[in-house]
Amino acid sequence: MGDGGTSRASELERGEARKTAEGLTYLSGFGNEHSSEAVPGALPEGRNSPQRAPLGLYAEQLSGTAFTEPRAHNRRSWLYRIRPSAAHPAFTRTHNGTVRTAPFTQTVPDPNRLRWNPLPDPAPETDFLAGLWTLGGNGDATQRTGIAVHLYAANVSMDRVFSDADGELLIVPERGGLLLRTEFGLLHVEPGHVALVPRGVRFRVELLDESARGYVCENYGAPFRLPDLGPIGANGLANSRDFRAPVAAYEDVEGPVEVVNKFCGNLWTATYDHSPLDVVAWHGNHVPYVYDLRRFNVLGTITYDHPDPSIFTVLTSPSDTPGLAGADFVVFAPRWLVGEDTFRPPYFHRNVMSEYMGLIEGAYDAKAEGFVPGGGSLHNMMSAHGPDRETFDRASSAELKPQKIDDGLAFMFETRWPLTLTPHAARAEHLQQRYDDVWQGMERHFSPLH
Ligand SMILES: [Fe+2]
Repeated sequence: MGDGGTSRASELERGEARKTAEGLTYLSGFGNEHSSEAVPGALPEGRNSPQRAPLGLYAEQLSGTAFTEPRAHNRRSWLYRIRPSAAHPAFTRTHNGTVRTAPFTQTVPDPNRLRWNPLPDPAPETDFLAGLWTLGGNGDATQRTGIAVHLYAANVSMDRVFSDADGELLIVPERGGLLLRTEFGLLHVEPGHVALVPRGVRFRVELLDESARGYVCENYGAPFRLPDLGPIGANGLANSRDFRAPVAAYEDVEGPVEVVNKFCGNLWTATYDHSPLDVVAWHGNHVPYVYDLRRFNVLGTITYDHPDPSIFTVLTSPSDTPGLAGADFVVFAPRWLVGEDTFRPPYFHRNVMSEYMGLIEGAYDAKAEGFVPGGGSLHNMMSAHGPDRETFDRASSAELKPQKIDDGLAFMFETRWPLTLTPHAARAEHLQQRYDDVWQGMERHFSPLH
């Protein structure tokens, strides 16, 4: 481990990957019909499945929604590849590492406010998949409902390929850039950006820095979409054009490639005799994408109070009940606070929804300390939370000038059901023992004689 030759080799690899990542071009838009071909003429014209696909490729459809879902929400893509995905040997079970899947039944759901420090550094030679550590979740992957919250910490690039049949993966890096090599092409994602890999799409994660750390929302439910804007109008929040999909890029590799498939909670492995990242052309609206959170158009009050944090929703996975999300991905991006006669940090509240929060950089305006980049907090259904004592005291007496919040980037996975922890998250050494203290000693100010 760590001998000069190996580390020089991986440094060279990272340099190559970074050069590749920084030179990428993208297709723009969310949910639109994209098309891309890495070789001119690879994409058939006028039909999806000609008798013989161009250039000797195989045509294959990938469905992200049932065939018959309403057109506005229907997701599918057509892939033109060197070999069909069906050309693989049998999968066999492999160990699940620290990946766990809903239903989560090994611990009792916890009503306490919980907060974790960042994951400890991983052992040497830990790739993204080996470094994936499940905090908890809800729902049931086999019923395609609910989410899992994972963290990851890695120090080497994957040389295997991964796909998740259980859900789409929203990757939120906190430390270290990533190059995602997917069936659809390459994506570059840095801290402050997010990447989404749709259910079942094969991909490999390469590191652009010495280490990588971050968060993952595995969404078992309906694919994330942009929230409706209602009276906001036709623009605002995350704008469609800022979502970027890859252009087609393929690997023509003949030789053993390990492919790990997560299916109904277990990891399965097979050694292919070729790379499954062999898609030469594709078209469709079911694609991986990246989004720069700093492009988020933050809306807020210009009079008083502050709107509910749903105003910060980047992506939402709807449930069968209108307005009730299986999962919302919410970002607290830099913004101005100008509310008059208003308590400006997030208010105290108890929420029927459950909230997992993470911090990508800087600080969060409701917590003076203890909530650190790479860490996270969980406020389950109806658990009372809000600004800590120090923040409350400061904000209650602050002079209300226009104020720029620009030193942090926090996010939330908000979900309709309580999150149940994995045993390793409930017993983790990096679980903070005294989080409740931030709300102790809140002074009594009440006087009926005022
Ligand atoms: Fe909250």
